[in-house]
Amino acid sequence: MDVPVGITVHPLGNRFYLVTENSTYIIGVSDLVLNLYWGPRLPLDRVLNGNGDDGIAWPDMHGRSSQDPWLTSAPEEYPVFGGLRYGDACLKMILPSGTRELDLQYKSYSVKKKANNLTLTLVDRTYPSIEVHLVYSVDVVNDIIARNMHVFNGTASAVQIELGMSAAWHLPMVLGKRRLIRLAGAWGAESQIQTDALQPGTHLVLSSTRGIPSAQTYPYMAIVDDENGHTYFGTLKWSGNWSMAMAVDIQGNTRWTGGISSHDFMVTVEPNAAWATPKFLAGFTTKGLSGARHRLPNHVLTHQLALRACRHATRQAQLSQLHREMAESAPKHLPVLYNSWEAAGFDINVDQQFDLATKARALGVELFVVDDGWFRGRNSDRAGLGDWFHDTTKFPDGLAPLANYARSLGMCFGLWFEPEMVNKDSDLYRAHPDWVYHYDDRRRSEARHQLVLNLVNKDVKDYLFERLTANIASIGIDYIKWDMNRPISEAGAGLAPENAKQVWELHVQGVYELMGRIKDAFPSLSIESCSSGGGRADVGILDFADQCWVSDNTRPDARLAIQHGISLVLPPRAMVCWVTDMGQSDNPVPLAFRCHVAFMGTLGIGSNLNAYTADQMKELAGWVRLYKKLRPVLQLGFLDWLHYDDRAGLAFTMTTDKNDQQNGKKHAIVLGFRSKNPFSFVLPRLRLKQLEEQVTYNLVAWTTYPTSPISLNPASGAVLMHYGIDASRFLPCSWSSFVLSITTA
Ligand code: DGJ
Repeated sequence: MDVPVGITVHPLGNRFYLVTENSTYIIGVSDLVLNLYWGPRLPLDRVLNGNGDDGIAWPDMHGRSSQDPWLTSAPEEYPVFGGLRYGDACLKMILPSGTRELDLQYKSYSVKKKANNLTLTLVDRTYPSIEVHLVYSVDVVNDIIARNMHVFNGTASAVQIELGMSAAWHLPMVLGKRRLIRLAGAWGAESQIQTDALQPGTHLVLSSTRGIPSAQTYPYMAIVDDENGHTYFGTLKWSGNWSMAMAVDIQGNTRWTGGISSHDFMVTVEPNAAWATPKFLAGFTTKGLSGARHRLPNHVLTHQLALRACRHATRQAQLSQLHREMAESAPKHLPVLYNSWEAAGFDINVDQQFDLATKARALGVELFVVDDGWFRGRNSDRAGLGDWFHDTTKFPDGLAPLANYARSLGMCFGLWFEPEMVNKDSDLYRAHPDWVYHYDDRRRSEARHQLVLNLVNKDVKDYLFERLTANIASIGIDYIKWDMNRPISEAGAGLAPENAKQVWELHVQGVYELMGRIKDAFPSLSIESCSSGGGRADVGILDFADQCWVSDNTRPDARLAIQHGISLVLPPRAMVCWVTDMGQSDNPVPLAFRCHVAFMGTLGIGSNLNAYTADQMKELAGWVRLYKKLRPVLQLGFLDWLHYDDRAGLAFTMTTDKNDQQNGKKHAIVLGFRSKNPFSFVLPRLRLKQLEEQVTYNLVAWTTYPTSPISLNPASGAVLMHYGIDASRFLPCSWSSFVLSITTA
């Protein structure tokens, strides 16, 4: 019998096998805890049935020279600061004695079989009541391991943590070179894929110190070996300051660490108290970046849907029979929304919003959202934040009549908040100037004319909870767009000096706590996470939010680049994509193209509907109708990129139904885009993926108009994958695009 998937302990108790469908991760313990292997799944039957020999050697423990101590390059699962270790460390602690080094030794393990969960306990050699727990949980289906670390301080005095990473991963040495994929950006230009050659001697550190994951660098890395497709990939499940380091020494030893950034960080752990890091999710595939795209977003989606089911189950008891049935049958896909921010900015009022709601419904919109500008004094970004009461000039009777109207039309109602912020020009700030992060002897830096509320302060959190829930209850809000439009500065939160630097972490915990409390009070409320676009589109926030706004840039050409990057992490359902008119005056793009780009995730419309002609409205309604038909695949399927070449202006995606045989049929959607065609070259045929060679598929395409489908001749999976489809036919000119639906015949 082979070692099964999940967690297996060697009969001697000194090796641990974390086995997924396609990967094996082996940890060996002596005094030290070392990674012995991470890669393709190994047949390990001899471990359980034979002589216990798994064929994996314990690393040679000799350093190259006295200047290259072995411990520095040892594949320690959790290298601490201490002794002859000069590589990236995971944990640095100041002990009660003043000693700033740790000396950990392995003590014990525990396994929770059903949960695929392993905990290794290490203790300090001199102070054994300081315990470090390394926690692993295995997502068997998606080949992902989630790791984090808990410190327990069993001594009689406080200890201080100056560095507390979530995990260290070690990649096997290879003869060739690997590529490192990462996501860099800026506001309006988020998550653009960058590629670096991982040369020996590379030490690359990515981080955010802004209090949010940030648009500038996204907490993601993938390391690809092009010779065999072996790819390691991962992200941090955290919505605040973070750092990730990739270090390759001259011999090719490769260590990848990550966690909360140690920039301005310190945590004091009191006696008999514990502290835990966020999770670091990492996986392995032999299928290159495409395999990584399959796994991480699917892990995120599966986890989100499980949490959602759990929340529904928790409130079952409180529900009437009717509501229980509704909750159970509630579709897992998200509604098509309308939001007038792009079209109207702050210039909103009740009549205009009623009018837009009518028009949105005519398009088939299911969720009507009022963005910024609805609350007291909010005519520009200079005033109002913090005063979460409706503006009586713009909405004399409040927002409930609009919400009721949206509902009477069959739509849900959503509202924008920026809970963590306050303008100086607000009643809240006038009443509580001390509620923002500040130092008494420093000026308060404003960005977008706003300051950040101190979410460590319970009064602040209680005020926000009261204001948000009062609005949710009185207006009837189904969805909140939770924005955050500036980084944190002057992070003085009034904490005692020994805890002061923990403010960055506590802010994020404060956001999670508030979102959690609000969700508990209104379990069916949806949240969209936004931070000036995609500044907070991380996996951590998705434990509370259903979806993320990934960029304020909704130009379709920009969106292709941004969606190409962020879809390495976010499942399509969590990636909100709007059709708007952005960039139209400078570069007119057909409505069909703009809709097809937005088909890639959860569809939204942000266009100025008042400026749309009857023909445009008809066309847009047709695209919304088509999207809804294809939505189960587009939102819940695997999104792969068949090709992306920005310079050539070409992009092709293929989203594949996860339940390969849903209703006995497979369903996949290909989206194709050509934004330039300077030479009128004929395109090579587009070869599809993930089909069955022997199966025949029906093909229907839409190009410039939603009600003019083009039926193609049925074709076998083999023909579609090896010979390909004639993409040129659908992409004859600049800004042409298509949607191709593929179903089992
Ligand atoms: C930034 C967001 O990214 C936008 O979508 C919009 O909600 C504005 N804030 C509103 O101020």
